[in-house]
Amino acid sequence: MTGFPQSAISNPRSAICLIPGDGVGREVIPAAAEVLAALGLGLEFVEAQAGFDRFRRAGDAIPPETLADVEAAGLALFGATSSPSEIVAGYRSPIVVLRKTFDLYANLRPTLSLPGAFSRPNVDLLIVRENTEGLYAGRERREGETAIAERVITARGSERIARVAFEQARGRKSQIPNPKPQSLISNLQSHVTIVHKANVLKVTDGLFRETCLKVAAEFPEVKVSEMLVDAMAMRLVRDPERFDVIVTTNLFGDILSDEASALMGGLGVAPSANVGARVAVFEPVHGSAPDIAGKGIANPIGAILSAGMLLDHIGCSEAAHRVRTAVMEMLKAGIMTPDLGGNATTAEVTRRIVAGL
Ligand code: NAI
Ligand code: MG
Repeated sequence: MTGFPQSAISNPRSAICLIPGDGVGREVIPAAAEVLAALGLGLEFVEAQAGFDRFRRAGDAIPPETLADVEAAGLALFGATSSPSEIVAGYRSPIVVLRKTFDLYANLRPTLSLPGAFSRPNVDLLIVRENTEGLYAGRERREGETAIAERVITARGSERIARVAFEQARGRKSQIPNPKPQSLISNLQSHVTIVHKANVLKVTDGLFRETCLKVAAEFPEVKVSEMLVDAMAMRLVRDPERFDVIVTTNLFGDILSDEASALMGGLGVAPSANVGARVAVFEPVHGSAPDIAGKGIANPIGAILSAGMLLDHIGCSEAAHRVRTAVMEMLKAGIMTPDLGGNATTAEVTRRIVAGL
């Protein structure tokens, strides 16, 4: 993966930190680790704790040792954790703690077509979501009968996320092993769409838009366009194959990326990366899925494709390509977990992907 300071990839890694977390996280992270181990790259793993179970047992949701392991490794594969619906004193969502602690400012969420009736064809896009500010800056308050959330946009935050988006667009290779139809390619290559709502949010999204356009000027080889977020929500459903890289603010990116995940088959298959200057945390988009946890039927593809993103990030693109190809081949053979309409188990899917490497 390109677009980040060299220190993010040149620093020799001692190990990859595995944080299974709660629920199906404990099923899909071992599956992804099995695939990584089977590549024969000599990768090492260290397992670390986080989550609600850990909180109940030990009083902290993410202990200092876990943060130290992530910092030492610089790389983590995170499953999911359960967050209670009611307020629990002392509990903070571990993924939020990781994003804040390591300033993981770029959330990368690719959507790629998978073989199967559950997926749209010819989609290969990447949503680059600002991960630290916007409406999620944590500035919310109540004043009597009025509740206020402040939407914080900074030139620094906008500039660094725009730079990631343009560098991704410039360096990105298609994630789909079988290339798209020739007719679509000219619309797709190295194209960034800046998504905002500057017609209404003139000050905050005005700054975001203006900063992104300034960065765009440094990348004359990348085509740039802009779109209002509501129109984007419609276009993602109507013609997702027209998009390459989409860059947007925190809340818009959160919503659009869940929408986009439906194009590839839903939460069970969608991968993501949270990337900062020194640390990167890769995670399937889904949560702990308490409704299916422990049944052995969780789809490991989201976690396995997240491991593929990790491989790209550390410069092992050939291995990443092998992983994606093995996933595609298995799906072509009609082997899938119940969320995609099949009846295979997590173990069967994992075994098949490992065999296909
Ligand atoms: P969820 O993603 O856990 O589940 C939503 C639906 O998708 C469920 O029907 C589930 O069975 C299905 N699903 C999720 N992952 C799947 C997989 N790998 N294979 C097959 N089906 C899968 O979201 P939900 O139910 O809203 O939240 C459950 C818990 O997860 C909550 O405590 C929530 O706070 C937490 N959560 C944690 C996240 C994280 O740690 N990054 C992200 C989202 C939710
Ligand atoms: Mg979300």
